[in-house]
Amino acid sequence: MKISFAKLALPNTGTAVVALPEGAKLGRVGLMLDRRAKSALSRAMAAAEFKGKKDSTVIIPAPPGGRLKRVIVLGLGPAKAFDAATAEKTGASLYSQVSGDETVSVVLEGLPDPATSAARIASGAQLKSYRFDKYRTKEEKSAKPKIKSLNIQTDDPAAAKKKHAPLAAIADGVFFTRDLVSEPPNVIYPESFAAKARELAADGVKIEVLGVKEMTKLGMGALLGVGQGSLRESKLLVMHWNGSADKNSKPLAIIGKGVCFDSGGISLKPGAGMWDMKWDMAGAGAVTGLMRALARRKSTAHVIGLCGLVENMPDAGAQRPGDVVTSMSGQTIEVQNTDAEGRLVLCDVITYAQQKYQPRAIVDLATLTGAIIAALSEFYAGIFSNNDELAGKLIDAGQAVGERLWRFPMGDEYDKDLKSLIADMKNIGGGKAGSITAAQFLQRFVKDTPWAHLDIAGVVWNEKGTALAQGGATGYGVRLLDRFVAENYE
Ligand code: BES
Ligand code: MN
Ligand code: ZN
Repeated sequence: MKISFAKLALPNTGTAVVALPEGAKLGRVGLMLDRRAKSALSRAMAAAEFKGKKDSTVIIPAPPGGRLKRVIVLGLGPAKAFDAATAEKTGASLYSQVSGDETVSVVLEGLPDPATSAARIASGAQLKSYRFDKYRTKEEKSAKPKIKSLNIQTDDPAAAKKKHAPLAAIADGVFFTRDLVSEPPNVIYPESFAAKARELAADGVKIEVLGVKEMTKLGMGALLGVGQGSLRESKLLVMHWNGSADKNSKPLAIIGKGVCFDSGGISLKPGAGMWDMKWDMAGAGAVTGLMRALARRKSTAHVIGLCGLVENMPDAGAQRPGDVVTSMSGQTIEVQNTDAEGRLVLCDVITYAQQKYQPRAIVDLATLTGAIIAALSEFYAGIFSNNDELAGKLIDAGQAVGERLWRFPMGDEYDKDLKSLIADMKNIGGGKAGSITAAQFLQRFVKDTPWAHLDIAGVVWNEKGTALAQGGATGYGVRLLDRFVAENYE
């Protein structure tokens, strides 16, 4: 779908959407219409008692006096409440209504900041337009969206275009994440994930990939233990973007759980729903998409993305419940449940990030626990942090982009649950507050660095679709982190 911006000039083909806030009149749109078309629109709007109420629509098929297929008059609600997030959602729902037509024009009237609204409506439509259909070989053409061009008409198209450019870069990042998360686990495994990430070199991101040999030297016994039952080699992917003027500035480290398939290992998961565990790498997917977004919009921040990439499989060589592994930090871990593998991967990446880069802050994203879904369902991700300021900034960024976070408590009471009889800790708690004990486990590897852990198990995949995504991968995290970086590190 090609997105463009133009001055108000009602088209004569395809679908025209006339978007009006509460109380706004057809105004200049009316003047551009053929006399008969204007009368048809006015009568239809009056008959439907159209007042501009949010999401209200009046559809006029084949209006007389021209070649337009249809006009949709769309209510935007009160002009004052039409903020960026609302505009994005409007663009997304608009996309769903018009994607069956090849050319669509949207005419905006009566808004206080038309350039921002135009850019956000375009971005919402773009985000909603994503579909992962490469493996559907028999889909009827009629079932696919037909839309080729979306033209948004507003008073200052140059300003709208300028505001849309970074949003398009962010959408590129979101799509990169959705691609990675949607791919099946026979296609995306640690090595192929890293290979795909190498595409970011073309955007200016510096890519490093460590293999088992390097990670063994570093002493990453926890991460390597998870991957040891897999035929696929474990990898540590490190992505550098330094857009800051000071090339020696300390970076922000963003870490992703990249379990490309989580069978549970020897603590095998039940068969029903196990296919979902292809998206147990969505944290890593979000980090990778973020790097594309930052690079493509030329962020002035210094950010390092690190992804622990493994496959958790049962095998004669797999780690057993009861094994003790030594993490890179030197702390030993009794692996009582091989299905609590995400924390084993993350703890070594957290140690590596601190030792190697002395980051200003660490944010990790992980589909870490089923318990977070029990607590929050699909509407919020959980946030756990050792730093109120950092947590607050992330919560604010999430709120602004509609990727919401809810903070959970942490404390010694929970940490005690990780006590092992024979090692420094075990990798599971006693069964209560499973998301918190998982976070406590991670915190044991964080030194003095401000750190936040985002448990995103409930929000990265959505069967029904969300406001800005059709069913499947949501791309959760990219827009949140991009906003967080833009607001606090640029
Ligand atoms: N990847 C899962 C968590 C998960 C579950 C993500 C469902 C998305 C949907 C994680 O590795 C896991 O298996 N966690 C266990 C931990 C338990 C063994 C302490 C869980 O949540 O059951
Ligand atoms: Mn698991
Ligand atoms: Zn997992």
